[in-house]
Amino acid sequence: MNFKRTILITGGAGFIGSHVVRLFVTKYPDYRIVNLDALTYAGNLENLSDIDQQPNYVFEKVNILDADELKRVFDQYQPDGVIHLAAESHVDRSIHSPLDFVYTNVIGTVNLLNQAKNSWNLNTKPCSLNNPRFYHVSTDEVYGALGETGYFTEQTKYDPHSPYSASKASSDHFVRAYHDTYGLPVVISNCSNNYGPHHFPEKLIPLFINNIIEKKPLPVYGDGLYTRDWLFVKDHATAIDKVFHEGNSGDTYNIGGFNEWRNIDLVKLLCRLMDEKLGNAPGTSEVLITYVKDRPGHDRRYAIDASKINKELGWKPSVTFEQGLAQTIDWYLSNGDWLTRVTSGEYQAYYDEQYGGKV
Ligand code: NAD
Ligand code: DAU
Repeated sequence: MNFKRTILITGGAGFIGSHVVRLFVTKYPDYRIVNLDALTYAGNLENLSDIDQQPNYVFEKVNILDADELKRVFDQYQPDGVIHLAAESHVDRSIHSPLDFVYTNVIGTVNLLNQAKNSWNLNTKPCSLNNPRFYHVSTDEVYGALGETGYFTEQTKYDPHSPYSASKASSDHFVRAYHDTYGLPVVISNCSNNYGPHHFPEKLIPLFINNIIEKKPLPVYGDGLYTRDWLFVKDHATAIDKVFHEGNSGDTYNIGGFNEWRNIDLVKLLCRLMDEKLGNAPGTSEVLITYVKDRPGHDRRYAIDASKINKELGWKPSVTFEQGLAQTIDWYLSNGDWLTRVTSGEYQAYYDEQYGGKV
C-alpha cells in the first residue's frame, strides 16, 4: 500500500503516546504510523491492542539512546514527520534517578534530532520530502512554579526545579537550537497535567483510584494545597494533531484547559465520585487521605494560558473536567484487568506474546 505520509511516533506505548497513536491510526488511514518505543516500565502495548492489527500501524521496539537503530528505522520507513513523546515522565522517579532522565530526555532527544537532520537532507534544494516536521512534546513544568496568580505563556522564562523538568527544559532548548542552527523544521508544545484511561498508577489520579479500590491510604504530599491544571488526555491528543498539521514551524504552543485544582480538593472530589460509583456510604474513601512528607522541590502551582492555541489554531478541549473525570473513573472500574496486569507487571509479557520472533 502507498501511504501519503509516514509519521514516526516515539513513546507510543505510553500513556499520552498511545492516545496519539490511536488517533492518528484511525483518523488518517492513508498515513503509516510507526510507533517506536523501548517498552520501559511505562510502556504497555496492551494500551494499543484495539488497533495494533491495523494495516497502517507498525511497532518498533527501539531505545532512542541507540543511534544505530534509529538510523535503521529512518532508512527503513523514511518518515517525513516525527512526533516525539518518549521520555522518562515521573517527577518522583527523577528525584531518585536523575541520570535516567538525562539519558532518555536529553541525549535520546538529541539522537533523534540528529537522525532527523541527517535523514532529511535539509540542505538539498528542493528538499526531497514534502513538509517534513519534527514535533517535540513537552511540559508546562519547564516554566517552574507560579504564585497565587498569573499564567504560563509561551514567553514565560524557563525555570525548572526538578531533575525531570530540567531534563525536559534542556531537550526543548536542543530542539530550538536544531531549528536555529540547522534549519530543522520543528514545533514544540508545552502541556499541563493530563489524566484519563491508561494512565500509569504511579501518578496522582490513577494511583488514588487504584488505592481507593484497594482501600489503601491516599498519600497527599505536604499541605495538599499545591495546584495543577488538568487536561483530559484525548483532548491533548487532538491538540497534538492540530499543532502537528497546522502549527507554525519554529513556534511553541501552550496546551491546557484553564482547569486548576488544588490537590486536596481534587482528591476529595475523587473520593466522593468513587464512593458514588462503588455504592459506598458518603465519606468512606476520604478517611483514607493521609498527609505525608512533601516532595522535595515541589512546584506550588501550574496554570497554562492556552490563548494562543485557542485563537491561532482554533483548538479547545472537548470535555469538561467533570465529564473527563467521570469517563476516567468508569474506565478504571471497567478495566480492572488492566490495573491488575499493570500492578503485577504481567503487562510486560504482551510484547513477547504478540511480537515474539516477529520483530
Ligand atoms: P509515559 O511515562 O506514560 O510514557 C513514556 C513512554 O516512553 C513509554 O512508553 C516508555 O516505554 C517510552 N520510553 C521511555 N524511555 C524511552 C527510551 N529511552 N526510548 C524509547 N522509548 C522510551 O509518559 P506520558 O505521561 O505519556 O508522557 C509522554 C510525553 O508527554 C513525555 O515527553 C512527557 O514529558 C510529556 N508530557 C506529559 C504530561 C503528563 O501529564 N503525563 C504532560 C505534559 C507533557
Ligand atoms: O504538568 C505536567 C506534568 O504533570 C508532566 O510533565 C509529568 O510528566 C506528569 O507526571 C505530571 O507531573 P506532576 O508531578 O504534576 O504529576 P503527579 O501526578 O506526580 O503529581 C500531581 C500532584 O499531586 C503534585 O502536586 C504532587 C501530588 N502528589 C502526587 C503523588 C503521586 C501527591 O500529593 N501524592 C502522590 O502520591
